[in-house]
Amino acid sequence: MSQDERIYVVGNQKIIIEEGSAGQRILDIGGGGEGIIGLCYGNRVIAIDPRKDELEETPEGPLKIVMDARELSFLDNSFDAVTSFFTLMYINKDDHEKVFKEIYRVLKDNGEFVLWDATIPEYDGGIKDIFVIQLEIETPIKVIKTGYGVSRKDKVQDIEYFTRIGESIGFNVIKEEVRDKVFKIIFRK
Ligand SMILES: C[S@@+](CC[C@H](N)C(=O)[O-])C[C@H]1O[C@@H](n2cnc3c(N)ncnc32)[C@H](O)[C@@H]1O
Repeated sequence: MSQDERIYVVGNQKIIIEEGSAGQRILDIGGGGEGIIGLCYGNRVIAIDPRKDELEETPEGPLKIVMDARELSFLDNSFDAVTSFFTLMYINKDDHEKVFKEIYRVLKDNGEFVLWDATIPEYDGGIKDIFVIQLEIETPIKVIKTGYGVSRKDKVQDIEYFTRIGESIGFNVIKEEVRDKVFKIIFRK
């Protein structure tokens, strides 16, 4: 079986990242890959990712640190904002609550956690076991076309799933946006 036959593709998803949002000091969780948040907000961003190679590929500007979101080496109340741009889909569901708790801990009071992620349907056990989402991301700097892919096994998720986790650990949901198969949630501590 070819790799292409295994891919469940969700195409043509559009994201707009506005200028001037987020905070003064921003922690970007999983800031490797395209490094979209670092590209948008430059040296206001501290980008963490457990993969050094992923961080090395991203644009210059942010402070890049090799670190795992499950155990953040920052003091409590350190950041005005935390972002996760299509990173939680890469983290095991068993670890999501732990990651949310770490994000809550390092955010200042009234700080915002901005989460962008994909709606992933339940895996039916068939040959299409790899989920790929294709995005066109409009940033204040340029438009980026990219795709993010993960194994579909144990990955079912949607906006309600993350809203529930956030609320269960103490966040308030202040904004929710669903646009086709992608969503954005703004939580406030
Ligand atoms: C493909 S990227 C997502 C998009 C990325 N935020 C961007 O701007 O392009 C997902 C990233 O999450 C990272 N990641 C996976 N597990 C992680 C964890 N436990 N903590 C932090 N980052 C993690 C991966 O190494 C990868 O670089």
